[in-house]
Amino acid sequence: MECAVSIRLTVYPDECDTFGHLNQAAYLAMFERARWALLAAGPGMDVFQRAGVWPAVRRAAIDYHAGAWPGDELEFAIEVLQRGRTSFTLRQRAVRLRDEQLIATVDTLFVCIDKEARPVAVPEEVLVALSGARRIALANGVTLAVEDRGSGGTPLLLVHGYPLDRSLWRAQIDNLRGHRVIAPDLRGSGESDAAPDATTLAAHADDLAALLDALHVERCVYCGLSMGGYIAFEFMRRHPQRVAALVLMDTRAGADDDDGKAGRNAAIATASAEGSGAIANAMSKKLFAADVDPQVRAAVVAQMGRASVPGIVAALGAMRDRPDATALLGGIDVPTLVVVGAEDRLTPPAMARSMADAIAGAELVVIDGAGHLPPVERPAETTAALQRFLDRTV
Ligand code: MLT
Repeated sequence: MECAVSIRLTVYPDECDTFGHLNQAAYLAMFERARWALLAAGPGMDVFQRAGVWPAVRRAAIDYHAGAWPGDELEFAIEVLQRGRTSFTLRQRAVRLRDEQLIATVDTLFVCIDKEARPVAVPEEVLVALSGARRIALANGVTLAVEDRGSGGTPLLLVHGYPLDRSLWRAQIDNLRGHRVIAPDLRGSGESDAAPDATTLAAHADDLAALLDALHVERCVYCGLSMGGYIAFEFMRRHPQRVAALVLMDTRAGADDDDGKAGRNAAIATASAEGSGAIANAMSKKLFAADVDPQVRAAVVAQMGRASVPGIVAALGAMRDRPDATALLGGIDVPTLVVVGAEDRLTPPAMARSMADAIAGAELVVIDGAGHLPPVERPAETTAALQRFLDRTV
């Protein structure tokens, strides 16, 4: 599996024991070297000193799967498994390149401390680098964090929903093949710039066009989930020449009705008074299929709980005020895939079906066992649906 960030190292004879294979203690040293190599290739090895922070290892749990010998080239992949305010856990995997054998996996929990050993906040720069994202300053003055991976085909732009970030697409970013994949955090989400107090979906669409400019991408396959789909309609209105094909996932074309707008205002009041945890809790009751994996649910709830309150408030206002896009559907003239979770209660399959019916030639895929978030609830099936559409279309 391709992971968020990876680096290659060679096994040397002095790291091997009397049996001739890489010594178990040396694995840890290699994992450490791989981490430093990634920092050297990104923000620099002095990133912690610059921030006045030291990452102390609190726990390392290693699984040994297979051996490695002198001269073996190993690929070390890394991903951020968990992040708190002062701690984070990295998962690293080492794969023997000659036969793609997984040889070891380690989860390392770091606590960031200052010179007096007091816990301090994790430097954002470190997490951005380790997650494989870059922060790109756009011509419109906004800086977005983005993962830009792979090559080939027409690039796929993955646009997340509310109140989420690009980690929604982790499985697709890691597993889609033969296409460049671009997954940004929208303004106000994840590691991108904060959103202004009031924003519009049109502003998000313009950010995305500026991002494509910065990445020298003329046309993309636009794939948006829920709010990312609402933004798709704005993108089609404002930048139609940039869209080679479209994926509308668990979304709707209609605007909010009066009850919907009142619900947005109530959610704004809740977020402002009680914080993102209250929003995460409320959303978690509506998002998932009945038999969702509890770990997936917990990871999404934790991620929503980290969303910033100004970002939540801005997104709710933008969704409340979005224009109706139903009239646009008949004019969509690019290949279109509509995807929906069979158990989606927010944008149910019937809604997806009528949206697909209104778009000439659109294909509908219903993902069994998924609610509103197929990319995380049924990652393999969602990736396969996208892969088939990409391979056939662009
Ligand atoms: C989303 O997933 O983006 C939201 O559920 C959209 C909405 O609240 O309308």
